[in-house]
Amino acid sequence: MADNRPIGVFDSGIGGLTVLREIWEELPNESTIYFGDNGRAPYGTKSHDTIVKYALQDLKFLESRDVKLVVIACYTASAHAYKDVLKTAKVPVVEVVYPGAYAACKETETGKIGIIATKATVSSDVYKNAVFETAEGLIKEGVNQEALKGLEVHSVACPLFAPLVEAGWWDRKATELIAEEYLAPLKEKGIDTLVLGCTHYPLLTDVIGRIMGPSVKLINGGRSVAKVVSKTLSGTDSLASGDNKAVYEFFTSDNPSDFEDIASPFLGGGRPSGTRHVDEN
Ligand code: DGL
Repeated sequence: MADNRPIGVFDSGIGGLTVLREIWEELPNESTIYFGDNGRAPYGTKSHDTIVKYALQDLKFLESRDVKLVVIACYTASAHAYKDVLKTAKVPVVEVVYPGAYAACKETETGKIGIIATKATVSSDVYKNAVFETAEGLIKEGVNQEALKGLEVHSVACPLFAPLVEAGWWDRKATELIAEEYLAPLKEKGIDTLVLGCTHYPLLTDVIGRIMGPSVKLINGGRSVAKVVSKTLSGTDSLASGDNKAVYEFFTSDNPSDFEDIASPFLGGGRPSGTRHVDEN
C-alpha cells in the first residue's frame, strides 16, 4: 500500500543536504523532513557518548513528525550511533557508512581503498571495518574477488575540510594546499578508490580529484544511500503513490536564515524556504 508520509533525514547541520538531494533525485514523489542540528554542530569533533545522545534526540524529533523512515545523513552519527538509533527507532533506519563501503568494494580494481572523514569517524574505525566486512561478503558471493582478496584500507581524518566547505572555500588555493597535505599519505599508498566519508566532501570533488589524479575513483556515498532508501521503502511496501506531490520541510536547531543562506551549494542549487527553528533537544 502507498505511504505518503515523509522520509525523515537528520544531520549534524547543513552537510546532510548532499544526501538529501540524492534522495530527491532518486525518489521524486517522496516528501522529506530535514533536521539539521546546526546549533550543536560539528559532531565530528565530539565524543562517542555525546554523538549518541544527540543522534537519539534527532531521531526523537523526526519521529514526533510522523516520518515513515529515518535516514542518518551524517557519517559521524552513522559511525557512532547507528546501533543505538536502530534499537530505539520505531521506523526503519538507513545509515550512510555501509552504502559507501559497498560502492568502494565494487569499484576498486587493486583492492587499495582510502577513506577520508571527520576525526570522530576515523577514530571509531567503523568505516574501515565496514569496508572489510563488505569485502568479505562480496568475496563469498564471487564479486570482485581478485581485487578484494588483497584488500588494504587506509583512513585519514580531514578536520579542516568541513569548515572550509561551509565557508564556501571549495576552490581556493589554501584549500588545495591543505588537501595536498591530507591526501599525501593516501597517494603514497597508491590507492585506486577514495571514499568521501563525510557529508561535506562531495563539494570538494574537483580539488580532491585534481590532487589524486584521474585514475583514482571518488566514491560519494550519498548516491548509494538514496538507492538503499528506495529499496527499503519498496521492500516494506511503503513508497509514496505515483501521483504524490512531494513536500519538503526543513528544521534547524540554529538560525533558520543562516541555514538557508548556506544551503544552496549543498543542495546543488536552489534555496530552501520556510525553515523552522526547533529547540526540542
Ligand atoms: N556531517 C558530518 C559528517 O558527515 C560532518 C560535519 C560535522 O562534523 O558535524 O561526518
